[in-house]
Amino acid sequence: MKSGKLSIYLRYLIICVILVLVMWLSSFQVYQAPKERFKIKQTKTHLLILTSWRSGSSFVGQLFNQNPDVFYLMEPAWHVWTRLPKEPPKLLHLPVRDLIRSIFLCDMSAFPPYMSQSKYISDIFMWQESRALCSYPACPNSPLTDFFNRSECHTRCRNVPLDKMEEACRAYSHVVVKTVRFFNLEVLYPLLKDPSLNLKIIHLVRDPRAVFSSREAFPYLEYDDATVSKAQNSKANISVVMEEICKAQVQIYKLASQNPQPFLKNRYLMVRYEDLVRNPVDHIREMYDFVGLSMSPKLESWFYNITHGLIPKEKKFLPFSEDSKKIAQHWREKLHFSKVKEVQKLCQQEMEVFGYQLVESEREQKNMLLDLLLTKLDKFEWIH
Ligand SMILES: *[C@@H]1O[C@H](CO)[C@@H](O)[C@H](O)[C@H]1NC(C)=O
Ligand SMILES: *[C@@H]1O[C@H](CO)[C@@H](O)[C@H](O)[C@H]1NC(C)=O
Ligand SMILES: *[C@@H]1O[C@H](CO)[C@@H](O)[C@H](O)[C@H]1NC(C)=O
Repeated sequence: MKSGKLSIYLRYLIICVILVLVMWLSSFQVYQAPKERFKIKQTKTHLLILTSWRSGSSFVGQLFNQNPDVFYLMEPAWHVWTRLPKEPPKLLHLPVRDLIRSIFLCDMSAFPPYMSQSKYISDIFMWQESRALCSYPACPNSPLTDFFNRSECHTRCRNVPLDKMEEACRAYSHVVVKTVRFFNLEVLYPLLKDPSLNLKIIHLVRDPRAVFSSREAFPYLEYDDATVSKAQNSKANISVVMEEICKAQVQIYKLASQNPQPFLKNRYLMVRYEDLVRNPVDHIREMYDFVGLSMSPKLESWFYNITHGLIPKEKKFLPFSEDSKKIAQHWREKLHFSKVKEVQKLCQQEMEVFGYQLVESEREQKNMLLDLLLTKLDKFEWIH
């Protein structure tokens, strides 16, 4: 009798323990689930290459584009500016920011409202510059192996629907977007604070005299210049454009480096184009470390080759695949001294902040023994 009662108690006890265990485990599950989801979102890294026209940004974009872990888009904000040509940059900041956030989240439904009719990947501005859009799964017919072939991409990867682009985007650990269309850092604060993003910013700057000189040889900027000039209620005017661009670079850098907001910590890196081309492989490695990308020996060899004029002529697909150190100094031979003086006046503050030495005479300008790049202290002081 007694032992029978005991075994019943024991059974109840075991049932109770199991119940408690089940409850504990299930609540544990409920508690874990959102955390897991959050973690999955966090595994992607988003990089915005923040820069201005003719500052070597196509070059820097390609340094990321060629990495097999990167989904890259070059200047998607072009669609917003083109669709809304009457608006000033300040107003366009908001739809541009929204488009870029959607791209980072691999939601390409933000594109069609800015596109004219069709909705193919090949209707995206500069789509063929993106290795990811020229390879599987965005382009099922792609034979692409290592470095991309623009003309082949053009013939084989046209007319693929936009949802393939979403599928492709999701397959990469890094989403990288280059843009020249922000003139202000504050407008990006909401993205930096957004828990669904892991945003890093590389701010690329270049000597404004070189920018001006490069603009003289590049005739495709009239629409963008008209929009930039609206910031001062002016018609397209190169002086206004240079002034606005230089002012913006200073504003962005100062906000990020002097008493920066806590959410900017480890998220902002300023890079001078001139430093990059003097020592490309080391600087690329630093930028890769900043965003958690690794560099294969093959990629390193390619980076060396494209920056030292070692790519055979017939295979040249980018203007920078020359001696990039020389390219950085072209303006000193090409730009008329009167224009040098004008730019130095318009952009005096930028030149001071970023360490670009002014020249006082044409002789100084053409004297290549004179180094116009002031050395900065420690590059890593620029990371905050
Ligand atoms: C451009 O703007 C500057 C001042 O910002 C002005 O002096 C110049 O006349 C303008 N040029 C043209 C062509 O409107
Ligand atoms: C870089 O150039 C060297 C010498 O021309 C060549 O052997 C090497 O294969 C090139 N690397 C890449 C990745 O193209
Ligand atoms: C790219 O592909 C085209 C056509 O298939 C070919 O003729 C060309 O040589 C290739 N270019 C490079 C750089 O491999």
